[in-house]
Amino acid sequence: MLCKILKWTGIGIACLLVTGLLGYWYISYQLKKQLEKTYQVTLRLIQIPDDPALISRGKHLVAIRGCVECHGENMAGKVIIENPALGKLVAPNLTRGKGGIPEHYTATDWLKAIQHGLRSYNTSLTIMPSKEYVQLAQQDMAAIIAYCQSLPPVDNSLPDIQIGPVLRVVNYLGKVNLLSAEDIDHKLQLLPEVNTQVSAAYGKYLSVMCSACHRENLKGGDPVLPGFPSPPNITSSGIIGKVNEAQFMKTLRTGITHQGKQINNEHMPWKVTANFSDDEIKSIYLYLLSLE
Ligand code: HEC
Ligand code: HEC
Repeated sequence: MLCKILKWTGIGIACLLVTGLLGYWYISYQLKKQLEKTYQVTLRLIQIPDDPALISRGKHLVAIRGCVECHGENMAGKVIIENPALGKLVAPNLTRGKGGIPEHYTATDWLKAIQHGLRSYNTSLTIMPSKEYVQLAQQDMAAIIAYCQSLPPVDNSLPDIQIGPVLRVVNYLGKVNLLSAEDIDHKLQLLPEVNTQVSAAYGKYLSVMCSACHRENLKGGDPVLPGFPSPPNITSSGIIGKVNEAQFMKTLRTGITHQGKQINNEHMPWKVTANFSDDEIKSIYLYLLSLE
């Protein structure tokens, strides 16, 4: 009797293992197909004057748009995450040092990567949040590229990206999108210009990154990754209705909530938001306050 039970349990476990492996193999095959897909885009080139003021604006923009958070303080790349479940996520070296971008990397390549999430040969990048940059103003895109092109070369050779099992599964289920080019409307064009005076409209322009976690309508939702806290509602019907501008500024600069809790930078990148100027934070506050 015991023998029989053991035998059937064994067969049961083996079946589960085989089904699991086949499922995982299928998911990995789908990801490979996604990674090999090529995209057709019509690039509209922009002027990139070699101007010190533009370059210094670019430096500010790579700080507030999160580039530095992933690509490192000197933009020479870094391993963003490394663990068995999520894999090895690596942001490349964007300087012209060893392990960096190739010598012939042109303004077109920069535009393709930042605006469309594509490699030089038109397949999708992974993890890189180009979706947040499709609607940058031309002047800001030009500033970012001008700054990146002016970076001093740093030698930093990094390992290849490895997408771990948990990320493969959540990508397959559509919970997370790993492919930078996938959910972008490639017909969208850069904004002709943006007015940087304090206003709710400027706040809206600046808060694109907040929706990556606080959701499209900024009303919060489930945690973005397993084990993370839930991003709260940050409209006037949520937290922003309860805090004044000074408290809001304190949260974005220090990661300390209105209730005095220290937020972990991995859960909400306050080291990025800390770089916003006073006017930028005031604008975001006005925008969030204008949302019911
Ligand atoms: C969430 C992390 C993250 C942020 C934020 C981010 N990147 Fe990236 N970026 C990546 C990763 C990861 C890759 C490599 C993707 C790959 O190879 O599949 C990448 C690739 C690139 C590439 C392509 C390089 C190549 O080899 O073709 C460029 C250019 C780039 N990023 C520029 C930027 C700029 C400029 C910003 C800010 C406006 C930015 N990135 C913000 C993670 C990020
Ligand atoms: C990577 C995800 C992520 C991004 C991007 C992000 N947040 Fe958050 N935010 C969170 C999470 C998660 C919490 C809750 C943290 C906790 O409870 O520990 C939070 C909390 C907050 C709070 C609550 C503070 C309080 O007093 O309780 C505010 C305000 C806030 N975020 C504003 C913003 C704004 C504005 C942006 C964009 C400029 C932004 N966040 C971008 C994930 C994010």
